[in-house]
Amino acid sequence: MLVDDKIFLGTSTRPEYLALKYANRHGLITGATGTGKTVSLQILAEGFSAAGVPVFAADIKGDLSGIAAMGKALDWQVKRAEQIGLTDYVPAKFPAIFWDLFGRQGHPVRTTISEMGPLLLSRILDLNDTQEGVLNIAFKYADDNGLLLLDLKDLRALLVEIADNAQTISTTYGNVATATVGAVQRALLVLEQQGGDNFFGERALEIADLMRTTTDGRGYVSILAADELMQSPRLYATFLLWLLSELFEELPEVGDPDKPRLVFFFDEAHLLFDDAPKALVDKVEQVVKLVRSKGVGVYFVTQNPVDIPETVLAQLANRVQHALRAYTPREQKAVRVAAETFRPNPAFSTEEAITQLGIGEALVSVLEDKGVPSIVGRTFIRPSAGQVGPISAEERRALIANSPVAGLYDSVVDRDSAFEVLGEKARRRQEQDAHERRLAEAEAAAREAEKAARRDAPRRSTRQTPTEAAVTSFTRSVASRLGTALVRGILGGLTRGR
Ligand SMILES: Nc1ncnc2c1ncn2[C@@H]1O[C@H](COP(=O)(O)OP(=O)(O)OP(=O)(O)O)[C@@H](O)[C@H]1O
Ligand SMILES: [Mg+2]
Repeated sequence: MLVDDKIFLGTSTRPEYLALKYANRHGLITGATGTGKTVSLQILAEGFSAAGVPVFAADIKGDLSGIAAMGKALDWQVKRAEQIGLTDYVPAKFPAIFWDLFGRQGHPVRTTISEMGPLLLSRILDLNDTQEGVLNIAFKYADDNGLLLLDLKDLRALLVEIADNAQTISTTYGNVATATVGAVQRALLVLEQQGGDNFFGERALEIADLMRTTTDGRGYVSILAADELMQSPRLYATFLLWLLSELFEELPEVGDPDKPRLVFFFDEAHLLFDDAPKALVDKVEQVVKLVRSKGVGVYFVTQNPVDIPETVLAQLANRVQHALRAYTPREQKAVRVAAETFRPNPAFSTEEAITQLGIGEALVSVLEDKGVPSIVGRTFIRPSAGQVGPISAEERRALIANSPVAGLYDSVVDRDSAFEVLGEKARRRQEQDAHERRLAEAEAAAREAEKAARRDAPRRSTRQTPTEAAVTSFTRSVASRLGTALVRGILGGLTRGR
């Protein structure tokens, strides 16, 4: 699996390796369905783990989870091992940590609204420019007023506050139309229905927990359950993008390390770019470019290289291209584009080869000495050592219970944040209003009583009758009692949980 700091990938006319020192120069695995992409991803992940490099990968169909279970030396695995002269082929299993945004098939992964920030949030919510503008203002307002934005209810409370104070806020921060705030609220509701409320909150994921190694020096493979998540493709894509940018922001610069500090596999990568605005594509391009010097390798997995914008594609140096179909003119064009990205091999036509590759066979080109791309080789990919296909629910449960982060993220922490603070503020405002209303009523009643007393005055002394005195003092005492009660209420309101 590992030979001199290189991961063995398979055999063309020669053995093909991925050099660990160039593994942070990113990569791409492509091919039509059923051509062997997931197995290729798995053998890379296995190699990295064995080399002590932690891996993060989204598991779209649940089949990558097999990496955590001992391989079963299936027929095709044994045959492929023989075919490529892999005499020391032995099944193995790899250390894995399971994660799940919904907290069902792995440890919950959460982040806070503040950490996600308005740009990515706008993208998740599919906001237009005006709506995004309002969201920006909301974040600014929250910052200026020390409001913590942790979960979706914080953001909702903040938006209510913004709508309630639209006029004053507009003068300081720029125009806020309440109708726009309403539209953002509705988008939030959709996200909530998609399960977004599981994802926003604390305890937020710490990057260090994705970068663990075992005591015997193997890299943990973090597997994000993404089958359910794929129902909300935007949430999926944005979450992974957020994770990448977190890696970039939190990790120190390392230049070109001997091996990556983390390798990140982005499966179904086309989802990130499907009708993505240019600003977002630029951001992806930038993050991918910059994260390299933090020692993070990013590998995109998708059916066709044309799914990925050229500026991003140009940065993916290590390539595994499985077979593509070429029936329609559009498919033929895609094959041509895919072929052009390889350094040609005089022995065959890259373009033809792409359509002729068998299952588990791929065109491979990686960075070699001095970072030069290797001549493309038509390669039989080695069989995975771990299990192919999903592990059972029981196996998963056992692995989750015994994982190094067991208990760390499993329950939600709900600190005082915008929702609580603004809720308290609104409650106090309401109490204040009620207090003033009751005072006004009491005063009006007192005035009524005085008027009545004055009406009777000409016939009687200016002194109040015992009844009148009782009425007046009753109203006053009501007022003052209400007053005290309210004061107590306000002070009492400052402590939570009433
Ligand atoms: N390196 C390999 N050598 C031999 N057979 C392979 C190899 N890789 C994959 N196969 C065969 O192809 C099957 C499908 O592989 P895999 O699941 O990796 O395809 P895929 O491209 O990920 O498919 P999908 O697009 O449906 O996710 C495997 O179960 C195995 O039988
Ligand atoms: Mg697959």
